Parts: sequence; structure tokens; C-alpha cells
Amino acid sequence: MAREVNVAVIGVGVVGIEMLRVLRQRNFPAKEIRVFARSARDIEVDGCKYSVKAISPEAFNGIDIALFAGTEGEKGAAATYAQEAVKRGAIVIDNGADFRMHKDVPLIVPEVNGADARKHKGIIANPNCSTIQMVVALAPIHKKAGLKRVIVTTLQASSGAGKSAVEQLNSEISAVCDGKFCSVHVDVKKSMPQQLAYNVFPQIGGFADDDYTSEEWKLVNETHKIMHDDSIKISATTVRVPVRTGHSESVYIETEKPISPEDVKKLLSKSPGIIVLDDAKKGLYPMPKDAEGRDETFVGRIRRDPFAKNGLWLWVVADNLRKGAATNAVQIAEELIK
Ligand SMILES: NC(=O)c1ccc[n+]([C@@H]2O[C@H](COP(=O)([O-])OP(=O)(O)OC[C@H]3O[C@@H](n4cnc5c(N)ncnc54)[C@H](OP(=O)(O)O)[C@@H]3O)[C@@H](O)[C@H]2O)c1
Repeated sequence: MAREVNVAVIGVGVVGIEMLRVLRQRNFPAKEIRVFARSARDIEVDGCKYSVKAISPEAFNGIDIALFAGTEGEKGAAATYAQEAVKRGAIVIDNGADFRMHKDVPLIVPEVNGADARKHKGIIANPNCSTIQMVVALAPIHKKAGLKRVIVTTLQASSGAGKSAVEQLNSEISAVCDGKFCSVHVDVKKSMPQQLAYNVFPQIGGFADDDYTSEEWKLVNETHKIMHDDSIKISATTVRVPVRTGHSESVYIETEKPISPEDVKKLLSKSPGIIVLDDAKKGLYPMPKDAEGRDETFVGRIRRDPFAKNGLWLWVVADNLRKGAATNAVQIAEELIK
């Protein structure tokens, strides 16, 4: 029987809210859930009321597990308060990118490398949303047939960029409905680098000198760390699409050993956290609208590359706020208290 623990949730943006929902839906054995953000307020999630307090170092006194869903970077929640929480005896599970590649910080997807969580020194990192769903789908194939090459194009929902991006998408859609839409400009306050409604753009994160974005490099480096294999040749293009929630990925792989699409379907069907939806002629394939609110990773369109030996295509979809963030973090917490 799991023991009851005191939990803190830091941040009440799209991930923090989902975290509160997931904790309740999974009956997480929390004695107390304290909620923090930059400013205090009362919120309600699915009929449950929470009193959000302004964050401070003392907030972490008596907390066993601190689930960070604040903003990233120098002045972000984890950079400012994660070590404070650890000092006060909490284990931090951070959704942001600040600690993911640190040598002493395990980067965990429970279906793939859950055992690594035990090696923590106070902080555990949740991978990037687009990495999580890709490694859930690819790890069983890597184990069985060895992955040599991965080429992925992501189609990422607006909620992947937080509350303000969802607000931008909604305002732009309203502008379209009000007849104020013009193909080059929608007059709403922008939090994203480009218009979201009626548009897609191949930029998630900033561009590096090599012309890849930070999101594209996260898919490479985080996958290597989680799979314990730097030899997999991975290359990514990350694209923002006008979907509210649910990231889709077109993933091309080349394996060391031959494996047929039928065997991949069988393998993934019995792998944890995966639902195979693959009967394309009957219109059965994963879509973000169906993945929204679900904790599984959905895989379909599994097919052979007609021109490359051991080349296969997969279409991978998951809810970025749940499996891509909140659910994965809560699963890590569940591993810790097992
Ligand atoms: N969205 C996704 O799909 C996704 C997926 C994986 C990982 N992540 C990561 O999860 C984290 C949260 O993302 P989000 O999309 O939920 O962001 P968001 O919607 O922008 O919400 C951010 C929340 O963090 C709070 N916050 C910001 N700075 C803080 C600080 N210094 N101390 C305490 N609270 C602070 C904000 O407080 P106020 O409300 O008071 O301003 C707000 O409630 C980010 O690190 C993000 O990269 C997001």
C-alpha cells in the first residue's frame, strides 16, 4: 500500500491545472495538496476548489513531492525554487527544461526507464512533451530490433506553448468568426512568433546556429538520454499547428534487424501505455481530437518504406498536457512511493 504524502503543485497554467486533475483522477495518495503560483487566487478544477498561494521558499516546508509546472528559465519557478524545495526535504519533479540534461538528474518516462528514477539526488525531470510520446512508441522497437535512424516531423498543438498560446488561438478563431480575418494578419495580442489560426509554422523554440530549433534538439538529446543510447541518428522538424491539445508526429525509423509492420503492431499492442489504432482503410488512425483527455500514446499508419531496407513509418499521437506533461509527472511520483 502506498503511503500518503504531502504534495505541492507549482504553477496553475495549462499543465498545473491538468496536474491537479490527474492527481485526483488517479487517486494519488496525497494527504495534502498545496498549490502555488506567482500570485494568490482561488481556482476551481472539475468542481474542486483550491486556494492558490503566492510561492515562497517556506512553501516547501513539510512537502514530500513538489510537482513543478511553472515557467522555465533564469527567473522561472524551478530555477528559483527547486533547490529550496530539495533543501527542505522534498523530491522535485520538474516539467520544464532547466534540469533535463543535468548529469545528476534522471529524465524519466516510466514505461521506458522508470528504474532510473531511483538514482535521483532530489530532482527528477519530466521530458519534453514531444519526446515523451515518441520514446513510448519507439522504445519497444529499439529493444526488439535496434533503432539506427529516426526522422521525425512533429505537429504540435497550441496548448504546448502554455495558457497564452491557447488564448491567442481562441482570439484568432473568434476574429475569423467575426469576419475580421485577413490571411496575413489577425489583430490580436500575440504570444507566439506567428499567427496560429489558419496557419502552420516550422518554429518551436529559438533557432540555433545550425538552423535547428531548441525543440528539435530536445527530441534528439532527450531521446538519447532516456534510451541510454547516443548512437541513434535522430533528426527532427517541429511544427506548430492550430490544434488546441494533442501533438501528432510523423516518425520514420530504420532498424538494425528487420521487423515487419505486422510485428510492430503486435509488439506495440502489448507494450505499456500504447494503443495501436491502425486500420487505415476503415478510417482508423490516431488523431489529436481523440487523444485529448487520454493518458495513452496512440500509434497508427504503421507501414514499410518501399525503398529502404528496414525502413518503417509510424504516426504517433498523445495529449501533450497529460502524457506529455501532467500524467507522466504523476506516474513518476507513483513510482517513487511504490
Ligand atoms: N504545455 C505543455 O504541453 C507542456 C508540456 C510539457 C512540459 N511543459 C512545461 O511545463 C511548464 C508549465 O507549462 P504551462 O504550459 O502550464 O505554462 P503556462 O500555461 O504559461 O503556466 C505557467 C504557470 O507557472 C506559474 N509561474 C511562472 N513563474 C513562476 C514562478 N517563478 N514561481 C511560481 N509559479 C510561476 C504561472 O503563475 P501565474 O499564474 O501566477 O502567472 C502560471 O500559473 C513549463 O516549464 C513548460 O515548458 C509544458
